[in-house]
Amino acid sequence: MNTVILAPTPQNLRLAASEIKNGGLVAFPTETVYGLGCSAYCERAARSVYEVKGRPSDNPLIVHFSEFAAAEEACRVNSAAKLLASRFMPGPLTVVLSKKESIPYAVTGGLETVAVRVPSHPVAREFLALTGGVAAPSANTSTKPSPTSAAHVLDDLGGKIPYIIDGGSSAVGIESTIIDCSQAKPRLLRRGGIPLEQIIDTIGEIEVVEHSSVALSPGMKYKHYAPVAEVYMCRSGARAAAEKFAELSDKGVHTLVMGVKDSGVSQIKFKDDAEYAHCYFDALRRADAEGYGAIICMAAEDGGIGASLNNRIIKSSGGKII
Ligand code: TXA
Ligand code: MG
Repeated sequence: MNTVILAPTPQNLRLAASEIKNGGLVAFPTETVYGLGCSAYCERAARSVYEVKGRPSDNPLIVHFSEFAAAEEACRVNSAAKLLASRFMPGPLTVVLSKKESIPYAVTGGLETVAVRVPSHPVAREFLALTGGVAAPSANTSTKPSPTSAAHVLDDLGGKIPYIIDGGSSAVGIESTIIDCSQAKPRLLRRGGIPLEQIIDTIGEIEVVEHSSVALSPGMKYKHYAPVAEVYMCRSGARAAAEKFAELSDKGVHTLVMGVKDSGVSQIKFKDDAEYAHCYFDALRRADAEGYGAIICMAAEDGGIGASLNNRIIKSSGGKII
């Protein structure tokens, strides 16, 4: 199959929307990362998403809408979700709610709940307004860094899907924050584009059950966000990073160091954690393309977007923390 990159013209968005309605797959931009979309109501299309990505079928997809009111088609909306939606949607937030019958189990990995999200990217919103609910995971091959440009999607899925809508580089650069609102007490399932502090500011203290600790144990279920190069997360400052760099270089491993500029040792320097998050997945992919064997990622701040980015760095590293 020839994969065509579509400029986001009204005509091309109509073409992409009709592909979705006919049970096909289309990759589309969001402000977090690119998604690999299919109709949220089509079981067969959802199965092909798992196949194309090489994703385990028990890992559910997020259903995307152009506005939160439309999510009533898919789930039972409650007051916690409404409050979060009123402050953060459209934006990099996903809420998990009890699913309605319209959504097939193929989308939810067999669960009685469904994750819903309203992206703020204008191209995503225009596309979603033409399609209705679109179920989508990130548009990367499973285990690879998430895609933040049309070129990343083409690298992973070229030849496997008909269309990629090009919406430029994703502004946030890491995935949405996921809050489970399906139980009496909301819980954080994944850190992401909306910092946890802002969630707590809106709905009060919540339980944190994010999966990041799983990545620290050798038996972690799924590998994640991993380039070919070995990733090390450096939490111990510039000297520790410089020592690791020297050790790897002595062994002949071509090594890259990245982080926010005042860490001193980085070859790739970001002005702050927001820029680091925006560039992170792209930097991993570039390092692979440039033949690096190891990447030392300086830890970001432990609050705000930095805490979400640290979660991705830990997972990329498979728990190799210095
Ligand atoms: O920013 C994002 O969320 C991006 C863009 C494309 O919207 N999407 C994304 O999808 O990151 P994906 O498939 O890479 O991650 C979705 C996460 C998975 O960890 C999945 O387990 C979780 O959402 N999830 C989906 N439905 C769920 C549910 N019903 N209950 C709990 N977790 C759920
Ligand atoms: Mg993903």
